[in-house]
Amino acid sequence: MGFEHTSVMSQEVHEHQNLKPGNISVDCTLGGAGHAIATIKAILPEGMLIGIDQDLDAINHANKILHPFKKNALLFHSNFSDLPEILNSNGIKGVNSILLDLGFSLNQLKNGNRGFSFNKNEPLDMRMDIRNDLTAFEIINSFPESELVNIFFKFGEEKFSRRIAKKIVAARRRAPIHTSLELAQMITDSIPAKNRFKMRIHPATRIFQALRIAVNRELERLEKFMEIAPSLLLKGGRLCVISFHSLEDRIVKQALRKFEDGCTCPKKLPVCLCGFVPQMKSVFRKPLVPTKEEITLNPMARSAKLRVAQKV
Ligand SMILES: C[S@@+](CC[C@H](N)C(=O)[O-])C[C@H]1O[C@@H](n2cnc3c(N)ncnc32)[C@H](O)[C@@H]1O
Repeated sequence: MGFEHTSVMSQEVHEHQNLKPGNISVDCTLGGAGHAIATIKAILPEGMLIGIDQDLDAINHANKILHPFKKNALLFHSNFSDLPEILNSNGIKGVNSILLDLGFSLNQLKNGNRGFSFNKNEPLDMRMDIRNDLTAFEIINSFPESELVNIFFKFGEEKFSRRIAKKIVAARRRAPIHTSLELAQMITDSIPAKNRFKMRIHPATRIFQALRIAVNRELERLEKFMEIAPSLLLKGGRLCVISFHSLEDRIVKQALRKFEDGCTCPKKLPVCLCGFVPQMKSVFRKPLVPTKEEITLNPMARSAKLRVAQKV
């Protein structure tokens, strides 16, 4: 099946990346490579796109669609937390822009056959990088009940986490839970009918999000990346991050605030002892969100938030 374009907030990203011909730009989450194509066109003829995705399908697809620009692109099947090593091994000291368009792609949801969707009967896998060992199957079928509750609360903010975990553990004593549809049905059955009927989202939405985050260690990697992002940018370079839920956005917001504030000494100290100076400045206070028109055309964009900061 063909790869579908999923680029969210393309116009806004393009405008705020502030790219010039000859720039070096990193797309940390190539996906369908929609943003990557726009980026490459903005930095031609001499510029270089460093493209990363942890999903081999995305890299193979990007290799095809970026083929006409192959002199201007270096693509890596890797995690964006490895960006410092990637830049180092290619002799790149700093870049003009970095884009993170977080989460999963439409292609992974629709054609991934890895159990990302609660509407499809697929193996419970959810790995974006199939070289990793941990799968959703392993979590669901072998993690202790308390650990399941923890994952569901922490990464899904699901208020029925305890009931759902209990039902899963009872079911797996009879037979392993193999597919996304089996799991989705079990989650639906765990939620009291009076709450289920009032829900505006599918009852399995939050648990599927939680599992995906746990399998791919998404928040941990984002936190690690945000700590080092300013050190990878050249002066004036831009960091653009599109997040899709509050757990991601909180990490981005807090990291940017820390880099904007600089000094971490208690206010009552007369002089700074920590030596930290501001490294980034947010381009706008509140995150940008997609237009109504974009959400109508692509409902997956509805929860997107774009934050942009510039290296000072
Ligand atoms: C929302 S899609 C990106 C869509 C893309 N910007 C476009 O224009 O089509 C997210 C992509 O990021 C990848 N991804 C998510 N977390 C990653 C990480 N930590 N390292 C590398 N790739 C990651 C996923 O595999 C997925 O392909």
